[in-house]
Amino acid sequence: MTYTKKTVHGAWSSRFAFILAATGSAVGLGNIWKFPYITGENGGGAFVIVYLLCVLLIGIPIMIAETMLGRRSQKNPIEAMEVLTDEAGADHNWHYLGWMGVIAGLLILSYYSVIAGWASAYILKAFTGSFLDADALTIKKIFDDFVASPIQLIFWHSLFMLATMLIVVRGVNNGLEKAAQYLMPSLFVLIFALVGYAMTTDSYFQGLHFLFMPDFSKLTSNSVLTAMGHAFFTLSLGMGAIMVYGSYLSKNISIAKTAFLIAGADTVVALLAGIAIFPIVFANNLHPNSGPGLIFETLPIAFGSMTGGWLMGILFFVMLAVAALTSAISLIEPAVAWLVENKDFTREKACVWSGLVTWALGLGTVFSFNIWSNVKFFDRSIFQLLDYLTANLMLPIGGFCIAVFSGWIMKKHHSEQELNMPNETSYQIWKLLISYVAPGSVFLVFLHVIGVL
Ligand code: TRP
Repeated sequence: MTYTKKTVHGAWSSRFAFILAATGSAVGLGNIWKFPYITGENGGGAFVIVYLLCVLLIGIPIMIAETMLGRRSQKNPIEAMEVLTDEAGADHNWHYLGWMGVIAGLLILSYYSVIAGWASAYILKAFTGSFLDADALTIKKIFDDFVASPIQLIFWHSLFMLATMLIVVRGVNNGLEKAAQYLMPSLFVLIFALVGYAMTTDSYFQGLHFLFMPDFSKLTSNSVLTAMGHAFFTLSLGMGAIMVYGSYLSKNISIAKTAFLIAGADTVVALLAGIAIFPIVFANNLHPNSGPGLIFETLPIAFGSMTGGWLMGILFFVMLAVAALTSAISLIEPAVAWLVENKDFTREKACVWSGLVTWALGLGTVFSFNIWSNVKFFDRSIFQLLDYLTANLMLPIGGFCIAVFSGWIMKKHHSEQELNMPNETSYQIWKLLISYVAPGSVFLVFLHVIGVL
């Protein structure tokens, strides 16, 4: 099943390589760091149900569409939209969609790298035994002292950006594929071990109750927006990452089947992370709504008190940093692919420039946790603003456009041919979801948030 194309544009060596890389992109900080803390902030069960519905009805259809647009065009997102509008005889303004994706990717990576830096720093903390026999208060102090130091955050952010760019510079087969191949399976095993620990706490069922028993009175329109935005974020949708990965995919592979596999794996990891974390939160009288520090304030307690916890702690943060790395490379790949294919940059030069821009933007997030913690725009810190702007606005808008393009602009026989579904019914279901349900839901949620509905 090998497929090579002699152009600057790369190609995956197999279907399995694509699945691994796309799962590597999807599974990351979004699942293990972000999902638990936003679930905690938004009241638990009801939020989780809305998120799951969004994955099923909006996320999966759009993942199929985005992969399809990438593979059909075999181009980076900006060029892809140009090629596809030509094919459909549509307006060229659609290529702004590609632009928005490239920008969203850099903005997300700027803060993503700072948080991934935290995970990297925690490898060292675990190794030096900082968590051994520490109580919840000590663990919280370790975290608070750490994020109060701009120098430390800059150091780890820089290290993480450097690692990302070193992988991206090596291109599709040597860099992206190899990174995902070994590390994703190990992460699954470790999360299962943590769930095992959570089961031994007295608060296991309280944690499950929080995560799965819906109380819809806790749901505000902004929590619905956050749940929907997170469905895009966690599946890496709406900014062209999956489109680029799709463009490296060979023609004989079933897009729909792979999308289900990837979304399924991603959802399982997020739910397992929640099942591991909330019992620890309740067992130690912590608050589920303590924000971005949640996993850094809870999991070390488990590592500090369980047998074998020292090694588990090290391994866990290694895996988390690696999961973040396989996601980070997909955030910057659209920018790099575009610079290489359209601006005649060498891959090296493209990496240096996009990496530097992202690194510099990341300083805003670093400082928002310490020296600029009082700087607020619309009541949000720089980090919160970047997160809101990208995950809650840009990704859903990007996804909306991808859905409208695939459902209404692209010729039916083109999408039908490209998706090559096993039967007409599956295609019709997808077509219904992508033309009406997905864009309609995004639209309704936006109307609700701005108060029109
Ligand atoms: N999905 C990743 C996570 O959950 C983050 C990510 C990688 C992403 N590539 C993306 C988010 C593209 C949005 C768009 O950690």
